[in-house]
Amino acid sequence: MTAPARASLIRVARHELDDGTRDLLGKEVAARVAAADLDSDANEAILASIGAHALSEYLPGQFLRALTLYAATGAHALILANLPVQEFPPTPVSGFGTETDLAVTNALHFGLIQILGLTPYAVEYENDGRLIRNVVPNPAASGTTSSWGADSEFSWHTDNPHLPFGGPGLDPRRYVPRYLTFYAVRNDERVPTELAAVADATAALDATATDALRRADFEVGAPASNDTRHALAGTPVLEHGPDGDRARFDKGTTRALTPSASAALGDWSGALASMPARELVLNPGEFLIFDNYRVLHRRRAFTPGPAPTARWLRRCYAS
Ligand SMILES: [Fe+2]
Repeated sequence: MTAPARASLIRVARHELDDGTRDLLGKEVAARVAAADLDSDANEAILASIGAHALSEYLPGQFLRALTLYAATGAHALILANLPVQEFPPTPVSGFGTETDLAVTNALHFGLIQILGLTPYAVEYENDGRLIRNVVPNPAASGTTSSWGADSEFSWHTDNPHLPFGGPGLDPRRYVPRYLTFYAVRNDERVPTELAAVADATAALDATATDALRRADFEVGAPASNDTRHALAGTPVLEHGPDGDRARFDKGTTRALTPSASAALGDWSGALASMPARELVLNPGEFLIFDNYRVLHRRRAFTPGPAPTARWLRRCYAS
């Protein structure tokens, strides 16, 4: 008899606005951002306060509570669906577009991060130092494992694993981003964002492998999307955190420094290949946040649709 498939340990809370609330919220935000050109980098604080104000006014109380408590409850991920969808320009497949055209979207995105009690930030060595990363199929990134790629599979990883784990009250830029947030603009290709809990991977490992992954016997480098080639040498892949194991991992940049670390890395890859996961197909107007310390993510290779309407997610780091 074959064993039943293991259910993923990942917890994803999902909340969906009703259409009436969505429309009122959209009108309110559009009216408040209309008076000026608001840029996502230069005017982030203004956009956040406009968005947070409107969201606080229109979101049902239980949604606001879920957002406020998210970081404290240890949930892996949260989705808020059916947010307002503005009129969008063509997908900026070269990577960057006119941010002032996206003021409604940015006010909602930054407003949600503010209600979550988090700080959005950028690092100077990635994405031109801009807060919002357009996750788009950029022809120039063809063949690379980057969020601008499409034709290469993005295997299980955590973002910017070449840094130490951070904590409250620290400059987030020096540490692994705690949370990744996304607002989905278009996903006609219906490409899933796949998530798995670190616990889904460790559940398949024996104590020898887990112990080896907790030793500082690895080198973990920066991913391809970074302009820096910085690497963390002598680091573990797994670390105990207050809410379970944390992982830093990118297959392309993680190297074992000892024979036992190399064996453990093989076991880890095997665990990733067989672990249960959740496939989230983000629809336009969906917001997703997940914990980049306790969640691994990936995106399989896909064929992008026509450039003007190709898949487009907006990503922002938050800690
Ligand atoms: Fe990523």
